[in-house]
Amino acid sequence: MPPAIETVDLVKEYGDLRALQELSLTVEEGEFFGLLGPNGAGKTTFINTLVGLVRKTGGDARVFGHDVEDDYRQARDAIGLAPQEFNVDRFFPIKEVLMHKAGYHGIPEDEAADRADEVLKRVGIYDKRNERFDWLSGGMKRRLLLARALVTDPDLLILDEPTAGVDVQLRHDLWDLVTELNEEGTTILLTTHYIEEAERLCDRVAIMNEGRKVTVATPDELKERGSDTIAVRLESEPSTAPDLGAYAHETTVSGDRLEVRVDDGGATAPRLLNDLEARGFEIADLEITRTSLEEIFVDLTRSEDRTVTRSSAESADGSDDESSAKREREREREGVA
Ligand SMILES: Nc1ncnc2c1ncn2[C@@H]1O[C@H](COP(=O)(O)OP(=O)(O)O)[C@@H](O)[C@H]1O
Ligand SMILES: [Mg+2]
Repeated sequence: MPPAIETVDLVKEYGDLRALQELSLTVEEGEFFGLLGPNGAGKTTFINTLVGLVRKTGGDARVFGHDVEDDYRQARDAIGLAPQEFNVDRFFPIKEVLMHKAGYHGIPEDEAADRADEVLKRVGIYDKRNERFDWLSGGMKRRLLLARALVTDPDLLILDEPTAGVDVQLRHDLWDLVTELNEEGTTILLTTHYIEEAERLCDRVAIMNEGRKVTVATPDELKERGSDTIAVRLESEPSTAPDLGAYAHETTVSGDRLEVRVDDGGATAPRLLNDLEARGFEIADLEITRTSLEEIFVDLTRSEDRTVTRSSAESADGSDDESSAKREREREREGVA
């Protein structure tokens, strides 16, 4: 069985902007796969090349073995997409919206009507079936996008930021529903910029930044890449940072507080205490903090221009590098459009 999604060196350029840069990614059949990245990372562009809304500039993309351009029809029929933006015909009752969608994918009318009812019930808006899209609340609109993605009973469900800006209730409903769908065998690709969401739902996560794949890992593997910080309060202020063993990746002093970055805080703390006491320090207090997945994510997606901004922001001239970098990016984008 070919993978649900397989891209090799996928490139998309908008003018000078490289929105996807040689992106190679494989999502296996049955997986719950997360695409995680900050705004502008290229998540939507990636999805849109799979469903034919964006034409790739280079590389290959296949869905269940079907080339997204050469075998467009087969590739597209396998996918149910709940897009990031609402793109629903506002003038029809929503049940008809779903029936049109099913019809477009070749499902006969009787069956389309049954399927529409079924998915409307499943997402919890069956009682709104005769209402128009623009009469629905924001949350119901999100539910409808999901229903429309499901009406063709897709093997691959793609959800582009389904929970951005939705309330807690809907977020949890969506999480439950997609988990259920995945357990029933539907392959799921979900994009999000919420790390907790990816952690909670996904078997594997690809982290993207500036059109590139930064890493692919399970949420547990990502967490293991983190490190711990042991913060020690000393009875008296040290004059310099003590020179500890190689287990201490970084040692910083501020006042009576000593911070030591290590791989595993719990395992290292006793040794650190011994070492400090052997050097004549008296310990008042000790605390271990684990790097959160959030921090790991921020670390992995720290772009080059943001790194420059950080160090240059410390320069004496006091110029506002952050906003000039932003203006720079906006100029680039205008040049493209
Ligand atoms: N139609 C377009 N024309 C020009 N640039 C675009 C277009 N669509 C997206 N981009 C740019 O491509 C990059 C990736 O965008 P996008 O795929 O929407 O990212 P994400 O979904 O991860 O937020 C961004 O820099 C964005 O501004
Ligand atoms: Mg997007």
